[in-house]
Parts: sequence; C-alpha cells; structure tokens
Amino acid sequence: MRVYNFSAGPGMLPLEVLKRVQSGLTDYNGTGMSVMEMSHRSKPYDKINNDVEALLRELMNIPADYDILFVQGGATNQFSAVPLNIGTVNRKADYVLTGNFAKNAYKEGCVHLDAHVAASSEDKNYTYIPRLAPDMFRKDADYVHICYNNTIFGTCYDGTPDVGSIPLVADMSSVILGRQINVSDFALIYAGAQKNMGPAGVTVVIVKHELTERAAPTCPVMLRYDNQVKSKSLYNTPPCFSTYVIYEVLKYLKELGGIPAIQKINERKAAKLYDYIDNSGFYSNPVQKQYRSIMNVPFVSPSKELDDKFVAEASAAGLVSLKGHRLVGGMRASIYNAMPEEGVDALIEFMDKFKKANA
Ligand SMILES: Cc1ncc(COP(=O)(O)O)c(C=O)c1O
Repeated sequence: MRVYNFSAGPGMLPLEVLKRVQSGLTDYNGTGMSVMEMSHRSKPYDKINNDVEALLRELMNIPADYDILFVQGGATNQFSAVPLNIGTVNRKADYVLTGNFAKNAYKEGCVHLDAHVAASSEDKNYTYIPRLAPDMFRKDADYVHICYNNTIFGTCYDGTPDVGSIPLVADMSSVILGRQINVSDFALIYAGAQKNMGPAGVTVVIVKHELTERAAPTCPVMLRYDNQVKSKSLYNTPPCFSTYVIYEVLKYLKELGGIPAIQKINERKAAKLYDYIDNSGFYSNPVQKQYRSIMNVPFVSPSKELDDKFVAEASAAGLVSLKGHRLVGGMRASIYNAMPEEGVDALIEFMDKFKKANA
C-alpha cells in the first residue's frame, strides 16, 4: 500500500513516474540494461544527459546564457562551491539569514571569504522574510545569497528581492519546479533534487555563464563550475540513475501542463491546508501570512503531548513523516509537487477527526 508521505525530503515521487522507471528497470529503451548499469559515456546516457538539460531549460524558461549543471554533494556542497567559484573578485559576500540552511550557507561562506549578514529574521524564530533593499548590501559584494524557500520554518520570499546590481544567488532546494521563477532575476540558482525533482544524489545548478569563469585557483576540481560546464557534468562518474529519474519527472510535469499548471495545484493544496489550520481553533501556524510557503507547512496543536500523539496516530493512518523539525517542533506537512491533492484532503480530514477527539 502506498502512503501519503509528507517528508521534507526525500519527498514523494509521482506514482506514474515510479511506474515508468520500473518498466525500464531491467531493459531501458531496448538497451538490455538498466540506466543504473549504463556507462555515462554511452550513447543512450548521453541522450538522457542532453534531454534532461533541454527539458529543464524549456520548463523553467532558462535563457541561453545560463549553464545547467547536474552535480553531486547535495545542496550543501554548493554552500562551498558558490564562494569558491563566484566570490573571487572582492572576496566579499552578503547573506540573508532566514533559517537553518541559510545560516549553514553563511557559515561556509565565512570559511572562504569575508561573509556578512545583511539581514536576518532570527529575532522572531524565522517566522518571516526580512524586507530587502539595495542599500542593505555592500556595493562591492561579489554576490548576495538567499534561501528562497525555508524548508524547516515554512517561509518563502513573496517575490524576487531587490538587491540592486549585485549578483543574486538562491538556494531553491525546496521550491524549484513548484512555482514559476524568473530565472534571469538570479545569477545562480541551486537545488538538491530530492524534494521536487527526483531522488537524492544529484543537485542542479543554474548559473549565468559569465560567472563560471572566475573560480579560485584553490577550488577543488569537482566543485569548479567551468570544469562541469566543459565536461557537460560528466567529468567523473555522475549519479546517472538519479538524473534519469529527474528526466522522467520533467516529462511528466510537461504532460501536466508545466510549472504554471503545477503551481495552480500547489497553491490550491496549500490554501486548503492553511485555511483549515487558521479556522480550526486548535492548530496554528506561526508564519506571517504573506511569507507562507506553499511547499512546507509547519503547525502545532495545543500541546507537545498532543503533537506526539498526532504524529503517531497519523502515521498509523497512512499519513507519514509529519513530525516537525527539531528546531521548530510540532508537525510539518511538506506538500511538494508529487503530493496528490487527495493526500492533503486526507490530512485535513484526519486533523479534524483528531481535533474532535482531543479538543
Ligand atoms: C533549503 C535547503 N537547502 C539545503 C538543504 C540541504 O540539502 P542537501 O541535503 O541536498 O545537502 C536542504 C535540505 O533539506 C534544504 O531544504
């Protein structure tokens, strides 16, 4: 039996995609082998590698002067790759702290350059996104780093922040493909795949080509964007199977109507859940409304004991991985692209039953 998996990542994959992957598991497209067993230098894999890039470019409308890389090491590796590749002109970068991952990126920035906190929402336990304006940043910063959607705290920017002419770098791990983004507002976008794109093991980097040509001499070869651009992300043995699953997810997303179509569904799912929480008189979500994430919805019941009971009973009812992150407590429902609307309906129905039994 499939459950509704509300995990923050790895998240659910569409059942249809899993079935397609399964159907080619022992013999992909008449090759007589699985993509797991395939040389990354083979023709069939070269086609997947080219097609996945082209399809992502089409779906996200990525301009021609941006490179798309499929690399390893998770989004966390980009916390180091970004300063080492693009923080090399004045060796200064400004960071906006909106949660745990934004802070981790900043800490890693401090290892490599003069990193500065331009704004933070830590004063209110990251329940909002600070208003940003160009005069909040150092004019000679090589980049401004933001985390666009904060997976743990359930916040999201309500538009592209204005950072003036400084290159804007965004960690979009938990929102990429979930809503429309104007790629040219950003100099660099990166995202671990395991929430909205595919399995863990591959990270997508979308970077303006001109920024790939200024890596620090000390930048390790696997982190160098110029190296990955030149080798089409095939410098060493890449995570072929994970990248292939992304390809199937993208094909499926295109058939659905692309990002505008899934965004509508995501907004509907999130609105239902927030509406229920806000009107329940039992559950609550602490995030300022305009910054609420449509992907990650944290909430609490009236007590820690009831939270624990909720998580256990929900799991027994087939609604799994609802325990909130240890930094926030309570519950968190991650409702990424692959979470069907029926999953959100089932969660709301369960929440209502639980409330009536425990209020
Ligand atoms: C916004 C964000 N950034 C970074 C990470 C870390 O990603 P990874 O585990 O791929 O290194 C996560 C993981 O949950 C995340 O949600």
